[in-house]
Amino acid sequence: MSPSPSPVPLAGRLAKLPPYLFAEIDKQKREARARGADLIDMGIGDPDLPTPPHIIEAIKRSAETPANHRYPDYEGLLSFRTAVADWYRARFGVTLDPQTEVLTLIGSKEGTAHMPLAFVNPGDAVLVPDPGYPVYAAGTWFAGGEVHWMPLKRANGFLPDLDAIPADVARRAKLMYLNYPNNPTAAVASKEFFARVVDFARRHQVIVCHDAMYSELRFDGYRPPSFLETPGAMEVGVEFHSLSKTYSMTGWRIGFCSGNAGAIAGLGKIKTNVDSGVFQAVQEAGIAALTGPQDLPEQYRRTYQERRDVVVAGLKRLGWEVDVPKAAFFVWAPVPGGLDSRTFASRMLNEVGCVITPGVGFGPSGEGFYRIALTIDAKRLEEAMDRLRGLKL
Ligand SMILES: Cc1ncc(COP(=O)(O)O)c(C=O)c1O
Repeated sequence: MSPSPSPVPLAGRLAKLPPYLFAEIDKQKREARARGADLIDMGIGDPDLPTPPHIIEAIKRSAETPANHRYPDYEGLLSFRTAVADWYRARFGVTLDPQTEVLTLIGSKEGTAHMPLAFVNPGDAVLVPDPGYPVYAAGTWFAGGEVHWMPLKRANGFLPDLDAIPADVARRAKLMYLNYPNNPTAAVASKEFFARVVDFARRHQVIVCHDAMYSELRFDGYRPPSFLETPGAMEVGVEFHSLSKTYSMTGWRIGFCSGNAGAIAGLGKIKTNVDSGVFQAVQEAGIAALTGPQDLPEQYRRTYQERRDVVVAGLKRLGWEVDVPKAAFFVWAPVPGGLDSRTFASRMLNEVGCVITPGVGFGPSGEGFYRIALTIDAKRLEEAMDRLRGLKL
């Protein structure tokens, strides 16, 4: 029996969403698996490493506490927000008032998606990186805003060219999304770049929404800066963070937004009307994550770094071009052999059983590139690199 259709057609805002470009790959994956193919899936950016045990112990204890069974505080437990402020001070030297400059989120996805509802009116522009995490554009369209794509080019270190933003767009812009370390390009941003962003935001009165959720997946001793370290950043921007990737907690749904108090209050106002906060036991587990032993996250960083090295060495052996990422758990590289990224992904899947993500799925400027997620073990990645030799380009 086929599912019955909705009696009402979908709202126009949903029609704005681009077609789901990974549908074809998903279909080919299902078909290949049905044929019994042993696929090596390097497509999914979801950590395969488990949440550290002390965090699991913390939620077990907190789940027993009746006070945690009630509605949480909308803005998050003050104790969690204080742990965030302490973490910011220790990690970045940034001072935050946990009462007004930190907000608990149901993951950074939720916060980035809701931000335009607080600040964007129909006809306003929002500056969005291309390629990029699709939620920034979706949140903008849902609020009736207009997306202005900022192309991220390899020649420019995958940083947007702020001078290329047309004056009339800059005038109408309310938000600028940025994301470093970046998904999908794994690029990082310097403090000098952030200083130029603050200057732009001041001149054009935009709120900078920096998604820093990969800041702790860093390699070779590199430490990505926080946007909030930049002089003047607290006046113009916020930063989104998450425990999802650093602590392998994607399923737990906890993140936070920090920075400009007015911007945080606006986002908080949306949230009080659409959600009721994060289960307090999850927030207490989040405190255990931020304040507890950091040896496992450190070990996880080393694991991702080893995997990165396997992939980079494997691609180089084939003579394929690749930049060595300093952070985030992705390798982003130009498609070899002059193929478009979808054809390449499809041939990888069908000819050698390797799943990668075609760059165009992250936006038109992603064409010509592909992404490998380092979320499977090194042995399987070695095997994938061996299999790639069989691909005749
Ligand atoms: C750039 C970026 N931002 C946000 C998210 C969402 O993360 P969270 O689990 O914190 O909602 C992801 C998830 O992959 C991401 O890649």
